[in-house]
Amino acid sequence: MKIIEGHHEIDVPDGVPVWDVDPYDVNILQDPSDYYAELRSKGPFVFIPKYSILACGRHKETKEVFSDWERFVSSRGVGLQDFELEEPWRPRSIILEVDPPDHAITRRVLARALSPKATADLKEDFQIEADKLIDELLEKGSFEAVVELAEEFPTTVFPKAVGLKENNSRALVDYGAMVFNALGPDNELRRNAMAMGPTTVPWIVEQCSRKNLKDKGFGATIFAAADAGEINEEQAEKLVRSLLSAGVDTTVTGIGSALWCLASFPEQFKRLKEDPSLMRPAFEEVLRFTSPVHSFCRTANGDTEVSGVKIAEGSKILCVLGAANADETQWSDPNKFDIGRRPTGHLAMGTGIHGCVGQNLARAEVAAVLTSILNKVDKIEFTGEAVWRPNNAIHALDKLPLIFKTA
Ligand code: HEM
Repeated sequence: MKIIEGHHEIDVPDGVPVWDVDPYDVNILQDPSDYYAELRSKGPFVFIPKYSILACGRHKETKEVFSDWERFVSSRGVGLQDFELEEPWRPRSIILEVDPPDHAITRRVLARALSPKATADLKEDFQIEADKLIDELLEKGSFEAVVELAEEFPTTVFPKAVGLKENNSRALVDYGAMVFNALGPDNELRRNAMAMGPTTVPWIVEQCSRKNLKDKGFGATIFAAADAGEINEEQAEKLVRSLLSAGVDTTVTGIGSALWCLASFPEQFKRLKEDPSLMRPAFEEVLRFTSPVHSFCRTANGDTEVSGVKIAEGSKILCVLGAANADETQWSDPNKFDIGRRPTGHLAMGTGIHGCVGQNLARAEVAAVLTSILNKVDKIEFTGEAVWRPNNAIHALDKLPLIFKTA
């Protein structure tokens, strides 16, 4: 059987429409809403010949495939590559790219490191940093919000929270771009991201060792699990690497997207200022509306069936979370940004056993930034055009020129 993008070529399952689309086309990655709508309209699954994959974008099937770890495994990679056929570009993640029972062990350790209590303890520090940054930006006038706020805040607070002795914001941001672009095909985005390897990977790997971590922070909790014999030293290093891989680009994107939503829909910003208790549902709505992780894959570990569609062993399935989060059968008026809705069940943080283990931290970071903005800023306005940055797995802003105004 032929191999395409690191996985087996598959036959078109009976009844599944063939759609000649490239989900990794930069135009789609920058502005995916029409692609999302068309994907949902075609049926529970489509077959995409360019990559010989199935894709789903309706909420029901996306949730089923994404959360059923027994039939749709993560251990064969959550990108296009099937790890049973090809070696991944780096040693696989021992939390994201493994299945139970191995997953339960590493998940328990990371869940402890990133527990609600551990992240609540950081609240005060986060608020101090956020207030400082927002004051600086108010003073500055117009600013580039991706670099000066969305990247600046997490790359200041996150390394401290992990306990890194050394910080290198550029390497953290670039490594995130590599990890997520690597999940796509061998396209220009992936190749450009991989070209950053020599300047970022050695630094990242170096920071994961015990000697480069302070004795307080998420890293210390992970190494305490190694001392207790729950995991070994090498596993502890890999779990720190998981934090550095998944903990920066995602929150950078979450903060950038929140700012973009509030600048794009000033009436919603006004509503939030009038009722700050809406802050949590507002961020959930940002996640639903913008889907920072637009798609991840699963691999069928045996012949199976979903919604009447027969899926063959080894099939790669692109789970388009962004499309599922705009499914009109799940939410009324899904293309409306409405901070008053309770978007329970959105898939932006995943679902099931692999659901985001860093979500408490992400929410705490965003809450600090939004609290500061609500207290200090009366209006958020664009000073130029917002531009989205194509990435094979992340839907993030590239440029966001803004100004904060006070009354
Ligand atoms: C807005 C911010 C974030 C978003 C949208 C997000 C999104 C996601 C999604 C969709 C998954 C599921 C992947 C899958 O099922 O294959 C996931 C898992 C994960 N996330 Fe996040 N994430 C965010 C922040 C963070 C942060 C701050 C950290 C770490 C500090 C983190 C660490 C992880 C890890 C380690 C996993 C794998 C969990 C497992 O496999 O059990 N994430 N995230």
